[in-house]
Amino acid sequence: MADVFDAYSRYYDLLYRDKDYVSEADYIARLLKAYGSGRELLEFGSGTGRHGRLFAERGYRVLGIERSPEMIAASTETEGFSCRQGDVCTLDLGYRFDAVLALFHVVCYQTSNSAVCALFDRAALHLKQGGIFIFDVWYSPAVYSQKPAVRVKRISDATTEITRIAEPYPRPNENVVDVNYLVFVEDVKSGGVQKVDETHPMRHFSLPELDLIAEHSGFERVAAEEFLTGQKPGENTWGVCIVMKKVR
Ligand SMILES: C[S@@+](CC[C@H](N)C(=O)[O-])C[C@H]1O[C@@H](n2cnc3c(N)ncnc32)[C@H](O)[C@@H]1O
Repeated sequence: MADVFDAYSRYYDLLYRDKDYVSEADYIARLLKAYGSGRELLEFGSGTGRHGRLFAERGYRVLGIERSPEMIAASTETEGFSCRQGDVCTLDLGYRFDAVLALFHVVCYQTSNSAVCALFDRAALHLKQGGIFIFDVWYSPAVYSQKPAVRVKRISDATTEITRIAEPYPRPNENVVDVNYLVFVEDVKSGGVQKVDETHPMRHFSLPELDLIAEHSGFERVAAEEFLTGQKPGENTWGVCIVMKKVR
């Protein structure tokens, strides 16, 4: 069994080729504008840099911090976007940004209370007064009501065919779901198949829980809405986008 984003990172961009990063970047840029953010962004868990590069194209200056060296290796820097390896729970850059972003469930990867609190503290430490923290999480009411299910995803390009089986193992007393990814990667030319087996523990959150953590780190929640649609969250809203303002 590999570490989170160890082998998985090699196929990350292909696996998420159909994810609409452009609409997501436009959506987050609208939120940044609506909540009066400036143009210096710190991106937690920047992955392969797909959001970061799009924000740079939209006139932002973005520094990405990413824990996985494999994800960094798969990332390219552009004018306005750079990234470096680090853990956002211990980060100390000695610099304050206009906004901190943590997109595509980065907060959910912090499964212990101490890790979640550390991430919030580090977001606050790197924000100017009145700065904005935007992130998305799995929403507990939807996880309990819909229940995670086994999902199969198939995706291919000219050289590779990928079949990914995602099997969820809920830990209900910890608000965590262990998602076991079994990925079969076929080399189209040779027919050779490689198997990748990775477990991603994912925490889900309720709004009162997030508000409590936020309060301790000097944040106030200013928005909670369905990611991308802006609808009010409910039992059918798996992905919720939260906007917090640094008030202390
Ligand atoms: C689902 S990926 C999202 C990557 C990217 N934000 C995107 O939208 O494609 C979650 C990322 O968060 C990173 N991550 C999780 N916890 C982290 C931490 N404590 N410090 C830095 N990166 C972290 C993982 O390595 C992974 O690249």
